[in-house]
Amino acid sequence: MTDRIDAGAPPAGDMDPEVYRQAAHQVADWTADYLRDVERLPVLSPVEPGTVRNALPASPPGTGESISTVLADIDRLLIPATTHWQSPGFMAYFASSGSGPGILGETVASALNVNAMLWRTAPAATELEQVTLDWLRQMVGLPQPLFGVINDTASSSTLYALAAAREAQSDLRIRELGMAGRPELPRLRMYASAEAHSSVEKAGIVLGFGKDGLRRIPVDERFRMDPVALRQAIREDVAAGIRPVAVIATAGTTSTTSVDPIPAIAALCEQHGLWLHVDAAYGGAAAIAPELRWVLDGAERADSIVLNPHKWLFTPIDCSVLWTRQPGVLRDAFSIVPEYLTTTDGSELDAPNLMDYGTSLGRRMRALKLWMVIRYFGADGLAQRIREHCEYASMLARWVEDERDFELLAPAPLSVVCLRAHPPGLDDPGTLDTLNQRIVERINSGGHYFLSHTKLRGEYAIRVAFGNLRQEQRHARGVIAALRGAIDDVG
Ligand SMILES: Cc1ncc(COP(=O)(O)O)c(C=O)c1O
Repeated sequence: MTDRIDAGAPPAGDMDPEVYRQAAHQVADWTADYLRDVERLPVLSPVEPGTVRNALPASPPGTGESISTVLADIDRLLIPATTHWQSPGFMAYFASSGSGPGILGETVASALNVNAMLWRTAPAATELEQVTLDWLRQMVGLPQPLFGVINDTASSSTLYALAAAREAQSDLRIRELGMAGRPELPRLRMYASAEAHSSVEKAGIVLGFGKDGLRRIPVDERFRMDPVALRQAIREDVAAGIRPVAVIATAGTTSTTSVDPIPAIAALCEQHGLWLHVDAAYGGAAAIAPELRWVLDGAERADSIVLNPHKWLFTPIDCSVLWTRQPGVLRDAFSIVPEYLTTTDGSELDAPNLMDYGTSLGRRMRALKLWMVIRYFGADGLAQRIREHCEYASMLARWVEDERDFELLAPAPLSVVCLRAHPPGLDDPGTLDTLNQRIVERINSGGHYFLSHTKLRGEYAIRVAFGNLRQEQRHARGVIAALRGAIDDVG
Protein backbone atom coordinates (compact mmCIF):
# COMPACT_ATOMS: atom_id res chain seq x y z
CA MET A 1 0.00 0.00 0.00
CA THR A 2 1.48 3.35 -0.94
CA ASP A 3 1.52 5.98 1.77
CA ARG A 4 -1.32 8.37 1.20
CA ILE A 5 0.84 11.08 2.69
CA ASP A 6 2.77 11.05 -0.59
CA ALA A 7 -0.31 11.92 -2.60
CA GLY A 8 -1.29 15.48 -3.45
CA ALA A 9 -4.38 17.31 -2.23
CA PRO A 10 -7.83 15.89 -3.00
CA PRO A 11 -9.90 17.70 -5.66
CA ALA A 12 -12.06 19.39 -3.01
CA GLY A 13 -12.15 20.03 0.71
CA ASP A 14 -9.44 19.58 3.31
CA MET A 15 -6.79 16.92 3.62
CA ASP A 16 -8.26 13.48 4.09
CA PRO A 17 -8.46 12.70 7.83
CA GLU A 18 -6.40 9.53 7.39
CA VAL A 19 -3.71 11.41 5.49
CA TYR A 20 -3.76 13.99 8.26
CA ARG A 21 -3.38 11.22 10.86
CA GLN A 22 -0.36 9.78 9.07
CA ALA A 23 1.26 13.16 8.60
CA ALA A 24 0.53 14.15 12.20
CA HIS A 25 2.23 10.98 13.44
CA GLN A 26 5.19 11.83 11.28
CA VAL A 27 5.27 15.38 12.64
CA ALA A 28 4.97 14.05 16.19
CA ASP A 29 7.99 11.82 15.58
CA TRP A 30 9.82 14.68 13.95
CA THR A 31 9.22 17.07 16.86
CA ALA A 32 10.16 14.42 19.43
CA ASP A 33 13.44 13.77 17.59
CA TYR A 34 14.05 17.50 17.22
CA LEU A 35 13.59 18.17 20.92
CA ARG A 36 15.81 15.19 21.78
CA ASP A 37 18.59 16.17 19.37
CA VAL A 38 18.37 19.96 19.19
CA GLU A 39 21.48 20.34 21.31
CA ARG A 40 23.56 18.81 18.51
CA LEU A 41 22.57 21.50 16.02
CA PRO A 42 24.51 24.79 15.78
CA VAL A 43 22.49 27.00 18.11
CA LEU A 44 23.04 30.20 16.12
CA SER A 45 22.28 29.55 12.48
CA PRO A 46 25.43 30.13 10.41
CA VAL A 47 23.59 31.00 7.18
CA GLU A 48 24.06 34.22 5.25
CA PRO A 49 21.11 36.56 4.63
CA GLY A 50 19.15 35.48 1.56
CA THR A 51 19.91 31.76 1.92
CA VAL A 52 16.32 30.70 2.45
CA ARG A 53 14.88 33.25 0.06
CA ASN A 54 17.19 32.05 -2.70
CA ALA A 55 16.51 28.38 -2.02
CA LEU A 56 12.74 28.72 -2.30
CA PRO A 57 10.84 29.07 -5.57
CA ALA A 58 9.95 32.69 -6.27
CA SER A 59 6.36 31.78 -7.14
CA PRO A 60 3.84 29.45 -5.50
CA PRO A 61 3.04 25.99 -6.86
CA GLY A 62 0.10 25.95 -9.23
CA THR A 63 -0.94 22.44 -8.30
CA GLY A 64 -0.69 21.11 -4.78
CA GLU A 65 2.27 19.11 -3.52
CA SER A 66 2.28 16.14 -1.20
CA ILE A 67 2.71 16.87 2.46
CA SER A 68 5.73 14.55 2.62
CA THR A 69 7.53 16.73 0.04
CA VAL A 70 6.78 19.81 2.09
CA LEU A 71 7.92 18.16 5.33
CA ALA A 72 11.18 17.10 3.66
CA ASP A 73 11.84 20.74 2.76
CA ILE A 74 11.61 21.72 6.40
CA ASP A 75 14.64 19.53 7.10
CA ARG A 76 16.45 20.45 3.93
CA LEU A 77 15.87 24.21 3.76
CA LEU A 78 14.53 25.59 7.00
CA ILE A 79 16.37 23.76 9.77
CA PRO A 80 19.87 24.87 8.62
CA ALA A 81 18.58 28.44 8.68
CA THR A 82 17.00 28.14 12.13
CA THR A 83 18.49 29.64 15.27
CA HIS A 84 17.56 27.11 17.90
CA TRP A 85 15.79 28.82 20.79
CA GLN A 86 14.94 25.33 22.03
CA SER A 87 18.61 24.45 22.46
CA PRO A 88 20.06 24.48 25.98
CA GLY A 89 22.99 26.37 24.44
CA PHE A 90 20.69 29.32 23.71
CA MET A 91 21.78 31.84 26.34
CA ALA A 92 21.08 35.07 24.46
CA TYR A 93 18.38 37.68 25.25
CA PHE A 94 15.84 35.89 27.45
CA ALA A 95 15.10 32.20 27.09
CA SER A 96 11.88 31.17 25.42
CA SER A 97 11.47 27.43 25.64
CA GLY A 98 8.44 25.67 24.29
CA SER A 99 7.89 22.66 26.54
CA GLY A 100 6.27 19.37 25.53
CA PRO A 101 2.91 20.17 27.15
CA GLY A 102 2.98 23.66 25.67
CA ILE A 103 3.62 22.33 22.17
CA LEU A 104 0.79 19.84 22.59
CA GLY A 105 -1.46 22.67 23.75
CA GLU A 106 -0.61 24.67 20.61
CA THR A 107 -1.47 21.67 18.48
CA VAL A 108 -4.86 21.14 20.05
CA ALA A 109 -5.61 24.88 19.94
CA SER A 110 -4.83 24.89 16.21
CA ALA A 111 -7.09 21.92 15.65
CA LEU A 112 -9.96 23.61 17.48
CA ASN A 113 -9.15 26.90 15.75
CA VAL A 114 -11.63 28.90 17.81
CA ASN A 115 -11.68 32.66 17.64
CA ALA A 116 -12.21 33.96 21.17
CA MET A 117 -13.52 37.39 20.24
CA LEU A 118 -16.83 36.95 22.08
CA TRP A 119 -17.75 34.64 24.94
CA ARG A 120 -20.28 32.91 22.64
CA THR A 121 -17.73 32.33 19.89
CA ALA A 122 -15.47 30.52 22.37
CA PRO A 123 -16.96 29.83 25.80
CA ALA A 124 -14.28 27.27 26.69
CA ALA A 125 -11.38 29.45 25.55
CA THR A 126 -12.78 32.53 27.31
CA GLU A 127 -13.42 30.82 30.63
CA LEU A 128 -10.21 28.75 30.47
CA GLU A 129 -8.28 32.01 30.04
CA GLN A 130 -9.93 33.48 33.13
CA VAL A 131 -9.31 30.38 35.24
CA THR A 132 -5.73 29.83 34.06
CA LEU A 133 -4.78 33.44 34.72
CA ASP A 134 -6.32 33.22 38.16
CA TRP A 135 -4.20 30.12 38.84
CA LEU A 136 -1.14 32.01 37.67
CA ARG A 137 -2.08 34.96 39.87
CA GLN A 138 -2.16 32.63 42.87
CA MET A 139 1.12 31.03 41.86
CA VAL A 140 2.96 34.39 41.86
CA GLY A 141 1.27 35.50 45.08
CA LEU A 142 -0.79 38.42 43.82
CA PRO A 143 -4.07 39.22 45.62
CA GLN A 144 -7.53 39.31 44.08
CA PRO A 145 -9.20 41.02 42.35
CA LEU A 146 -7.10 40.93 39.22
CA PHE A 147 -8.61 40.59 35.78
CA GLY A 148 -6.37 38.94 33.20
CA VAL A 149 -6.22 38.60 29.44
CA ILE A 150 -3.64 36.96 27.22
CA ASN A 151 -2.05 38.95 24.40
CA ASP A 152 0.61 38.09 21.87
CA THR A 153 3.53 39.95 23.42
CA ALA A 154 4.51 42.19 26.30
CA SER A 155 4.80 45.03 23.83
CA SER A 156 1.06 44.70 23.13
CA SER A 157 0.21 44.19 26.81
CA THR A 158 2.12 47.33 27.79
CA LEU A 159 0.55 49.29 24.94
CA TYR A 160 -2.93 48.29 26.15
CA ALA A 161 -2.08 49.03 29.79
CA LEU A 162 -0.84 52.49 28.89
CA ALA A 163 -3.89 53.11 26.71
CA ALA A 164 -5.91 52.40 29.86
CA ALA A 165 -3.67 54.78 31.82
CA ARG A 166 -4.45 57.48 29.26
CA GLU A 167 -8.15 56.61 29.37
CA ALA A 168 -8.07 57.01 33.16
CA GLN A 169 -7.47 60.74 32.53
CA SER A 170 -11.15 60.86 31.67
CA ASP A 171 -11.48 64.66 31.83
CA LEU A 172 -9.26 64.89 28.73
CA ARG A 173 -11.83 62.93 26.63
CA ILE A 174 -9.10 61.56 24.38
CA ARG A 175 -11.17 58.58 23.31
CA GLU A 176 -13.81 60.94 21.90
CA LEU A 177 -11.78 63.87 20.68
CA GLY A 178 -8.30 62.47 20.02
CA MET A 179 -5.18 64.47 20.71
CA ALA A 180 -4.54 66.37 17.50
CA GLY A 181 -5.50 70.03 17.06
CA ARG A 182 -6.35 70.53 20.73
CA PRO A 183 -4.29 73.40 22.11
CA GLU A 184 -6.09 73.08 25.47
CA LEU A 185 -4.65 69.58 26.00
CA PRO A 186 -1.73 69.51 28.45
CA ARG A 187 1.44 67.64 27.54
CA LEU A 188 1.19 64.13 28.98
CA ARG A 189 4.04 62.31 30.60
CA MET A 190 4.99 58.80 31.63
CA TYR A 191 8.00 57.75 33.67
CA ALA A 192 10.18 54.66 33.45
CA SER A 193 13.74 53.94 34.43
CA ALA A 194 16.67 54.39 32.11
CA GLU A 195 16.76 50.57 31.97
CA ALA A 196 13.08 50.03 31.07
CA HIS A 197 12.32 48.13 27.87
CA SER A 198 11.93 49.94 24.55
CA SER A 199 8.33 48.67 24.33
CA VAL A 200 7.38 51.41 26.80
CA GLU A 201 8.75 54.07 24.49
CA LYS A 202 7.05 52.44 21.52
CA ALA A 203 3.71 52.48 23.34
CA GLY A 204 4.28 56.16 24.09
CA ILE A 205 4.80 56.86 20.39
CA VAL A 206 1.67 54.93 19.36
CA LEU A 207 -0.49 56.55 22.05
CA GLY A 208 0.48 60.09 21.14
CA PHE A 209 2.66 60.85 24.16
CA GLY A 210 5.57 61.00 21.73
CA LYS A 211 9.13 60.07 22.63
CA ASP A 212 9.24 63.24 24.69
CA GLY A 213 6.24 61.97 26.63
CA LEU A 214 8.41 59.35 28.33
CA ARG A 215 10.80 60.65 30.93
CA ARG A 216 13.61 58.26 31.75
CA ILE A 217 14.46 58.19 35.45
CA PRO A 218 18.05 57.50 36.51
CA VAL A 219 18.95 54.21 38.17
CA ASP A 220 21.07 53.43 41.21
CA GLU A 221 24.29 51.42 41.22
CA ARG A 222 22.26 48.21 40.96
CA PHE A 223 20.32 49.48 37.91
CA ARG A 224 17.07 50.08 39.84
CA MET A 225 14.91 53.16 39.37
CA ASP A 226 15.74 55.90 41.85
CA PRO A 227 12.41 56.84 43.50
CA VAL A 228 13.83 60.14 44.79
CA ALA A 229 14.64 61.14 41.22
CA LEU A 230 11.16 60.00 40.18
CA ARG A 231 9.52 62.20 42.81
CA GLN A 232 11.63 65.14 41.71
CA ALA A 233 10.75 64.56 38.03
CA ILE A 234 7.03 64.45 38.80
CA ARG A 235 7.28 67.68 40.82
CA GLU A 236 9.18 69.45 38.05
CA ASP A 237 6.68 68.36 35.42
CA VAL A 238 3.66 69.40 37.46
CA ALA A 239 5.28 72.79 38.07
CA ALA A 240 5.84 73.12 34.30
CA GLY A 241 2.17 72.39 33.53
CA ILE A 242 2.82 68.87 32.23
CA ARG A 243 0.29 66.20 33.25
CA PRO A 244 1.90 63.04 34.77
CA VAL A 245 -0.13 59.99 33.72
CA ALA A 246 1.70 56.76 34.46
CA VAL A 247 4.80 55.16 35.90
CA ILE A 248 6.22 51.95 34.49
CA ALA A 249 8.22 49.96 37.03
CA THR A 250 10.23 46.97 35.84
CA ALA A 251 10.55 43.69 37.73
CA GLY A 252 13.45 42.14 35.85
CA THR A 253 14.99 44.63 33.41
CA THR A 254 16.13 43.43 30.03
CA SER A 255 19.84 44.13 30.45
CA THR A 256 20.55 43.11 34.03
CA THR A 257 17.25 41.76 35.48
CA SER A 258 17.28 44.50 38.13
CA VAL A 259 14.02 44.96 40.03
CA ASP A 260 12.76 48.50 40.61
CA PRO A 261 11.65 49.44 44.17
CA ILE A 262 7.97 48.96 43.40
CA PRO A 263 6.60 49.78 46.91
CA ALA A 264 8.24 53.24 46.89
CA ILE A 265 7.09 53.82 43.30
CA ALA A 266 3.55 52.67 44.16
CA ALA A 267 3.43 55.14 47.04
CA LEU A 268 4.32 58.01 44.67
CA CYS A 269 1.72 56.84 42.17
CA GLU A 270 -0.95 56.75 44.88
CA GLN A 271 0.05 60.20 46.11
CA HIS A 272 -0.17 61.74 42.62
CA GLY A 273 -3.02 59.65 41.22
CA LEU A 274 -0.85 58.01 38.54
CA TRP A 275 -1.39 54.66 36.85
CA LEU A 276 1.24 52.13 37.90
CA HIS A 277 2.16 49.54 35.30
CA VAL A 278 4.61 46.82 36.30
CA ASP A 279 6.62 45.24 33.50
CA ALA A 280 7.33 41.79 34.90
CA ALA A 281 7.49 40.27 31.41
CA TYR A 282 10.58 38.26 32.31
CA GLY A 283 10.96 38.54 36.09
CA GLY A 284 7.38 37.86 37.13
CA ALA A 285 7.73 34.11 36.61
CA ALA A 286 10.42 34.02 39.31
CA ALA A 287 7.74 34.82 41.90
CA ILE A 288 6.44 31.26 41.51
CA ALA A 289 9.41 30.19 43.66
CA PRO A 290 8.47 31.34 47.19
CA GLU A 291 12.00 32.54 47.96
CA LEU A 292 11.88 34.77 44.85
CA ARG A 293 8.41 36.17 45.48
CA TRP A 294 10.06 39.46 46.50
CA VAL A 295 10.41 40.37 42.78
CA LEU A 296 6.72 41.30 42.79
CA ASP A 297 6.70 43.08 46.17
CA GLY A 298 4.51 46.14 45.69
CA ALA A 299 2.98 44.85 42.44
CA GLU A 300 -0.22 44.18 44.37
CA ARG A 301 -0.67 47.96 44.33
CA ALA A 302 -0.23 48.22 40.54
CA ASP A 303 -3.05 49.10 38.17
CA SER A 304 -1.64 46.70 35.59
CA ILE A 305 1.05 44.04 35.36
CA VAL A 306 2.51 42.17 32.40
CA LEU A 307 4.08 38.71 32.71
CA ASN A 308 5.17 36.68 29.69
CA PRO A 309 4.77 32.91 30.03
CA HIS A 310 6.57 32.71 26.69
CA LYS A 311 9.72 33.98 28.35
CA TRP A 312 10.44 32.02 31.53
CA LEU A 313 7.37 29.85 31.88
CA PHE A 314 8.06 27.26 29.21
CA THR A 315 5.05 28.18 27.07
CA PRO A 316 5.63 28.41 23.32
CA ILE A 317 5.69 31.90 21.91
CA ASP A 318 3.35 33.79 21.89
CA CYS A 319 1.75 34.22 25.30
CA SER A 320 1.77 37.44 27.31
CA VAL A 321 -0.47 37.95 30.34
CA LEU A 322 -1.88 41.37 31.11
CA TRP A 323 -3.53 41.69 34.52
CA THR A 324 -5.35 44.77 35.65
CA ARG A 325 -7.12 45.93 38.77
CA GLN A 326 -9.12 48.27 36.55
CA PRO A 327 -10.76 46.13 33.87
CA GLY A 328 -13.49 48.72 33.40
CA VAL A 329 -10.95 51.36 32.38
CA LEU A 330 -9.17 48.96 30.03
CA ARG A 331 -12.53 48.13 28.47
CA ASP A 332 -13.42 51.82 28.18
CA ALA A 333 -10.18 52.35 26.29
CA PHE A 334 -10.95 49.70 23.67
CA SER A 335 -14.52 48.53 23.54
CA ILE A 336 -16.37 49.23 20.29
CA VAL A 337 -19.24 46.86 19.56
CA PRO A 338 -20.63 47.00 16.03
CA GLU A 339 -24.11 45.60 15.59
CA TYR A 340 -22.97 42.26 14.21
CA LEU A 341 -21.02 41.58 17.42
CA THR A 342 -23.73 42.45 19.94
CA THR A 343 -24.76 39.64 22.28
CA THR A 344 -26.85 39.18 25.39
CA ASP A 345 -25.02 36.19 26.80
CA GLY A 346 -24.40 37.37 30.30
CA SER A 347 -22.69 39.99 32.40
CA GLU A 348 -19.14 41.21 31.94
CA LEU A 349 -18.20 39.08 34.94
CA ASP A 350 -19.88 35.86 33.76
CA ALA A 351 -19.22 36.10 30.08
CA PRO A 352 -16.57 38.67 29.18
CA ASN A 353 -16.03 39.36 25.50
CA LEU A 354 -12.26 39.40 25.26
CA MET A 355 -12.27 41.52 22.11
CA ASP A 356 -13.09 44.45 24.43
CA TYR A 357 -9.67 44.50 26.12
CA GLY A 358 -7.27 45.32 23.30
CA THR A 359 -6.95 46.19 19.63
CA SER A 360 -7.47 42.67 18.26
CA LEU A 361 -10.91 41.41 17.47
CA GLY A 362 -9.82 37.87 16.69
CA ARG A 363 -7.95 36.03 19.42
CA ARG A 364 -6.26 32.65 19.51
CA MET A 365 -6.90 30.14 22.27
CA ARG A 366 -3.57 30.86 23.93
CA ALA A 367 -4.71 29.79 27.39
CA LEU A 368 -4.76 26.12 26.44
CA LYS A 369 -1.00 25.76 26.16
CA LEU A 370 -0.42 27.69 29.40
CA TRP A 371 -3.03 25.59 31.20
CA MET A 372 -1.36 22.43 29.97
CA VAL A 373 2.07 23.68 31.07
CA ILE A 374 0.79 24.52 34.56
CA ARG A 375 -1.08 21.23 34.91
CA TYR A 376 1.79 19.10 33.65
CA PHE A 377 4.61 20.63 35.69
CA GLY A 378 2.56 21.90 38.66
CA ALA A 379 3.47 25.05 40.58
CA ASP A 380 6.20 23.19 42.48
CA GLY A 381 7.74 21.74 39.33
CA LEU A 382 7.82 25.16 37.67
CA ALA A 383 9.34 26.74 40.78
CA GLN A 384 12.01 24.05 40.87
CA ARG A 385 13.03 24.68 37.26
CA ILE A 386 13.18 28.45 37.80
CA ARG A 387 15.24 27.90 40.94
CA GLU A 388 17.70 25.75 39.01
CA HIS A 389 18.17 28.43 36.38
CA CYS A 390 18.95 30.95 39.11
CA GLU A 391 21.44 28.48 40.59
CA TYR A 392 23.24 28.19 37.24
CA ALA A 393 23.46 31.98 37.10
CA SER A 394 24.84 32.09 40.66
CA MET A 395 27.38 29.42 39.75
CA LEU A 396 28.58 31.44 36.76
CA ALA A 397 28.62 34.68 38.80
CA ARG A 398 30.75 33.03 41.51
CA TRP A 399 33.16 31.77 38.88
CA VAL A 400 33.46 35.25 37.35
CA GLU A 401 34.16 36.74 40.76
CA ASP A 402 36.99 34.27 41.35
CA GLU A 403 38.48 34.61 37.89
CA ARG A 404 41.41 36.97 37.41
CA ASP A 405 40.59 37.86 33.80
CA PHE A 406 36.81 38.40 34.13
CA GLU A 407 34.56 40.69 36.13
CA LEU A 408 30.87 41.01 36.91
CA LEU A 409 29.28 44.18 35.57
CA ALA A 410 26.01 43.93 37.50
CA PRO A 411 24.45 41.93 40.31
CA ALA A 412 22.78 38.74 39.08
CA PRO A 413 19.60 38.48 41.18
CA LEU A 414 17.80 36.05 38.83
CA SER A 415 18.93 33.91 35.87
CA VAL A 416 21.10 36.34 33.87
CA VAL A 417 24.75 37.25 34.37
CA CYS A 418 26.37 40.38 32.90
CA LEU A 419 30.13 40.10 32.75
CA ARG A 420 33.16 40.96 30.73
CA ALA A 421 36.74 39.94 30.25
CA HIS A 422 39.02 42.46 31.94
CA PRO A 423 42.56 41.13 32.11
CA PRO A 424 44.77 42.98 34.60
CA GLY A 425 46.49 45.99 33.04
CA LEU A 426 44.09 46.20 30.09
CA ASP A 427 42.03 49.25 30.97
CA ASP A 428 41.42 51.13 27.73
CA PRO A 429 37.61 51.17 27.30
CA GLY A 430 37.70 50.78 23.50
CA THR A 431 40.14 47.85 23.68
CA LEU A 432 38.04 46.16 26.34
CA ASP A 433 34.88 46.56 24.28
CA THR A 434 36.59 45.07 21.22
CA LEU A 435 38.02 42.17 23.23
CA ASN A 436 34.61 41.29 24.64
CA GLN A 437 32.89 41.65 21.32
CA ARG A 438 35.42 39.21 19.85
CA ILE A 439 34.83 36.77 22.71
CA VAL A 440 31.09 36.77 21.98
CA GLU A 441 31.68 36.32 18.25
CA ARG A 442 34.12 33.50 18.95
CA ILE A 443 31.70 31.65 21.22
CA ASN A 444 28.74 32.21 18.92
CA SER A 445 30.59 30.89 15.89
CA GLY A 446 31.44 27.69 17.78
CA GLY A 447 27.86 26.43 17.48
CA HIS A 448 27.45 25.27 21.09
CA TYR A 449 26.32 28.51 22.74
CA PHE A 450 24.61 31.68 21.64
CA LEU A 451 25.28 34.72 23.84
CA SER A 452 24.12 38.30 23.40
CA HIS A 453 25.39 41.59 24.78
CA THR A 454 24.30 44.88 26.23
CA LYS A 455 25.89 48.16 27.24
CA LEU A 456 26.15 49.02 30.92
CA ARG A 457 27.35 52.49 31.88
CA GLY A 458 28.47 52.80 28.29
CA GLU A 459 30.61 49.65 28.35
CA TYR A 460 30.13 46.45 26.37
CA ALA A 461 28.82 43.65 28.59
CA ILE A 462 28.46 39.97 27.74
CA ARG A 463 25.04 38.66 28.77
CA VAL A 464 24.60 35.00 29.67
CA ALA A 465 20.93 34.15 30.15
CA PHE A 466 19.82 30.88 31.69
CA GLY A 467 16.18 29.89 31.58
CA ASN A 468 15.96 27.26 28.87
CA LEU A 469 14.04 24.24 30.04
CA ARG A 470 16.64 21.84 28.72
CA GLN A 471 19.55 23.37 30.61
CA GLU A 472 21.41 21.36 33.18
CA GLN A 473 24.40 22.13 35.34
CA ARG A 474 26.71 20.84 32.61
CA HIS A 475 25.59 23.71 30.37
CA ALA A 476 26.58 26.23 33.01
CA ARG A 477 29.96 24.50 33.30
CA GLY A 478 30.18 24.41 29.51
CA VAL A 479 29.66 28.12 29.03
CA ILE A 480 32.25 28.83 31.71
CA ALA A 481 34.73 26.68 29.79
CA ALA A 482 33.77 28.44 26.57
CA LEU A 483 34.42 31.87 28.10
CA ARG A 484 37.77 30.74 29.45
CA GLY A 485 38.69 29.20 26.10
CA ALA A 486 37.59 32.23 24.11
CA ILE A 487 39.73 34.70 26.02
CA ASP A 488 42.74 32.49 25.38
CA ASP A 489 41.89 32.32 21.68
CA VAL A 490 41.21 35.98 21.01
CA GLY A 491 43.05 37.73 23.86
C1 LIG B 1 11.42 43.57 30.47
C2 LIG B 1 10.85 43.37 29.10
N1 LIG B 1 9.65 43.88 28.81
C3 LIG B 1 9.09 43.74 27.60
C4 LIG B 1 9.72 43.01 26.61
C5 LIG B 1 9.05 42.84 25.28
O1 LIG B 1 8.62 41.54 25.15
P1 LIG B 1 7.76 41.02 23.88
O2 LIG B 1 8.76 40.45 22.94
O3 LIG B 1 6.84 39.99 24.44
O4 LIG B 1 7.05 42.18 23.30
C6 LIG B 1 10.96 42.44 26.87
C7 LIG B 1 11.66 41.65 25.84
O5 LIG B 1 12.66 41.04 26.07
C8 LIG B 1 11.54 42.63 28.14
O6 LIG B 1 12.75 42.13 28.43
